[in-house]
Amino acid sequence: RQAPLLAPSLLSADFGNLQAQTEMLADSAADWLHFDVMDGRFVPNISFGIPVLEAVHRYARQPIDVHLMIEEPQHYLSAFRDAGAAIITVHYEACTHLHRVVQQIKQLGCRAGVALNPHSPVSLLEDIAADLDVVLVMSVNPGFGGQAFIPNTLRKVAQLKELLVDCGSSALIEVDGGVTLDNAPALVAAGADALVAGSFVFKDGDPVGTLARMRAELAP
Ligand code: DX5
Ligand code: ZN
Repeated sequence: RQAPLLAPSLLSADFGNLQAQTEMLADSAADWLHFDVMDGRFVPNISFGIPVLEAVHRYARQPIDVHLMIEEPQHYLSAFRDAGAAIITVHYEACTHLHRVVQQIKQLGCRAGVALNPHSPVSLLEDIAADLDVVLVMSVNPGFGGQAFIPNTLRKVAQLKELLVDCGSSALIEVDGGVTLDNAPALVAAGADALVAGSFVFKDGDPVGTLARMRAELAP
């Protein structure tokens, strides 16, 4: 197996020092920067959006992995692309015309991801899996950092892995929410290719050190 990609979530960063935080991550084991957009409608919280992405992109070295927890994401895709998104992930539960949205993301030149809430079975992706670059499995209910990992996610990742093989999809499996070094090895064993971590990376004030430790402990 390969080493998982590490995607620290800027939701847990110090917003008063976003330039410094982004530059610090530039020289870390982070492979992607995870950028959580919340609209207060799809999820019961509001985070940040397009102008903040533009600012982060100015100082970022890694691709920015934009997780849209918003209703009607189709209206904002080109704005997020222009602001620096490399990957755009929309929620299955927020898109009536998911196939169209996925094609729009790809036409913009971004990699396309679909996120699944904890209650949404992976079988919902059967007819779209082959078109996807990323499937984001939510291991908490989206809206907040620092929540506890939902253990059923492990089974779900294994099921998704099987589904992707059956569909001939090369989509990466990304897991988001409550990821720590306690559950990460099992997630990788189940088939996770990329791990998002917010509070675990930022909480002790040494994101670079924690990311280095994750890379070392999760090396094949
Ligand atoms: C939750 C977000 C996550 C969050 C993860 O709605 O999508 O990306 O930042 O934070 P932790 O790792 O603290 O659960
Ligand atoms: Zn996220």
